[in-house]
Amino acid sequence: MTDYILDHIDPETELLKELSREAHVKLLRPRMMAGHLQGRILKMFCRILRPKLILEIGTYTGYATICLAEGTDSDAVIHTVEIDDEMESFMMKYISRAPGRDKIRVHFGNAMEVVPKLQTGPFDMIFIDADKHRYPDYYDMAFPVLRSGGLILADNTLWDGKLLSGATDKRTSGIAIFNEKIRQDDRVEKVILPLRDGLTVIWKK
Ligand SMILES: C[S@@+](CC[C@H](N)C(=O)[O-])C[C@H]1O[C@@H](n2cnc3c(N)ncnc32)[C@H](O)[C@@H]1O
Repeated sequence: MTDYILDHIDPETELLKELSREAHVKLLRPRMMAGHLQGRILKMFCRILRPKLILEIGTYTGYATICLAEGTDSDAVIHTVEIDDEMESFMMKYISRAPGRDKIRVHFGNAMEVVPKLQTGPFDMIFIDADKHRYPDYYDMAFPVLRSGGLILADNTLWDGKLLSGATDKRTSGIAIFNEKIRQDDRVEKVILPLRDGLTVIWKK
């Protein structure tokens, strides 16, 4: 089914294909990248919502960042935060060639420390995609800097089925606590899309 879907949606750009190929050869966990389907969905969200200010927590290769840049208007700005500065040369090789590169601001450091110091906001869209055990903390940090009517997208919220398997490792627990927190939060409307590893879409009232 996945092949059929990928065959019938917009293709990846040549730049993203090249990025993906290099990631699969050189990186340990290329599956962490958004990839073809999720990348096109992120772009589509941008086309529909036309966010002017985006925050991404967890840049990795820059794959999703480039997709967000593809879908936004020329005056949009995308702040993306990555804790691992060893990813810099890999991501910049591609971000520097991306059509929307002028919109992208890369910050290195722990998002919990970097985001409160960003002198910008409120954001129209926030993509949470960093370490899973901190998802509840990222949400608490992101919520106040998201505008009313803005969207939080949280990736991997079905966590490969581990949520239902009784696993108690800290990443599974982090996602479980996050999902429960969102379920109980009346300040937002939410759906979980069973896309890949689960993508929660959260709309702030
Ligand atoms: C799943 S990958 C991000 C994938 C990327 N958003 C995409 O879709 O192509 C998660 C990234 O978050 C980074 N990360 C983990 N903890 C972080 C933190 N506290 N602050 C910023 N980045 C963090 C990791 O180093 C890793 O590169």
